Amino acid sequence: MNENRSRGELVGNRRFRLEERLGEGGFGEVWRATDTLVSGDVALKFVRADKAGEGAGAALWKEANQSRKLTHPGIARIYDVCEFADEAGFIVMEFVDGEPLSVKRAKQPHGNFAWEEIEALVVQLCDALEYAHGKGVVHRDIKPANMMVTGAGVLKLTDFGLAAPHDSEGARGGSPPYMSPQQLRGMRPTMPDDVYSVGAVIYELLCGKPPFYRGDIDHQIRHQMPEPLAERMADLEMKEQPPPAVAAIVMACLAKEPDRRPAGVAAIREWLNLPQRTAEEMAEAEAASRPEPMNEGVLAGKKPAFIVVGSILGLLVLLAVGYFLFG
Ligand SMILES: Nc1ncnc2c1ncn2[C@@H]1O[C@H](COP(=O)(O)OP(=O)(O)OP(=O)(O)O)[C@@H](O)[C@H]1O
Ligand SMILES: [Mg+2]
Repeated sequence: MNENRSRGELVGNRRFRLEERLGEGGFGEVWRATDTLVSGDVALKFVRADKAGEGAGAALWKEANQSRKLTHPGIARIYDVCEFADEAGFIVMEFVDGEPLSVKRAKQPHGNFAWEEIEALVVQLCDALEYAHGKGVVHRDIKPANMMVTGAGVLKLTDFGLAAPHDSEGARGGSPPYMSPQQLRGMRPTMPDDVYSVGAVIYELLCGKPPFYRGDIDHQIRHQMPEPLAERMADLEMKEQPPPAVAAIVMACLAKEPDRRPAGVAAIREWLNLPQRTAEEMAEAEAASRPEPMNEGVLAGKKPAFIVVGSILGLLVLLAVGYFLFG
């Protein structure tokens, strides 16, 4: 089976033409490809032969199928799973024209963001997860590398439900620094695991490192209390402390016991007093980030509405911050 792919190659019974290698992760390579049948960009995630071994492969396909029912502007669609004789199996996903948040963070001068810079992304993360959890689907691998951000600041979660269960053969699910103690123990992932990961992700975005990042991370996640965010930031001599409500919810998400964490992602958003975006607003923001299928007139027509909505949201956020500081 060919594992050395090259640009121009046709895969999937000659339906998809490989255009650009986007990267590689735990499962294998990801390519941007052209779907020659319906013409358009897709992302193909190939499953390395050693990862598609007994058990793991079957579990992955099952989960990919489960994730196909998710349609939300904040979630990169999973269109299909393909397996043909003599070809490596792959997942066909929506291609996101953007950059992973992990890369964006690494490019920051001090490797971290101020809360104001990520607040809108956290809202979108909560919205997307709330939708998926409502459909009974847990992400299982929330981390900055699976959070793509488009040029217009729209967040798209990738790899929904694709992390193989921790205890399945041949594959280890999730990414340890962001995994809850329960997920690390190999228990079947549940919604509170995603809540834990949201906490670990915000923690990292604000101070540059996840709660546990060196030494025996597995042991620390299971048995050690994370350093309070404010203390970590002081240790690292980071001056821009987040609002106390933010630090508090982050630490609450990182509770060892699932029932001590916020009850769900909606609770995180409510605690932060963040406005919920409607599906229409999300769709509008998404549309503004996709220049190619839209003609200029449509895009120009969308812009003012987007700016007005953005300004109102900005004003609400300012009022909320003012309330926290002086109220
Ligand atoms: N749907 C997508 N659209 C565009 N680019 C993508 C898409 N999915 C992944 N990528 C790119 O491919 C790279 C590799 O993705 P991949 O999911 O294999 O690795 P990862 O997220 O770092 O690790 P993991 O295997 O744990 O998810 C990403 O960093 C991203 O740049
Ligand atoms: Mg990924």
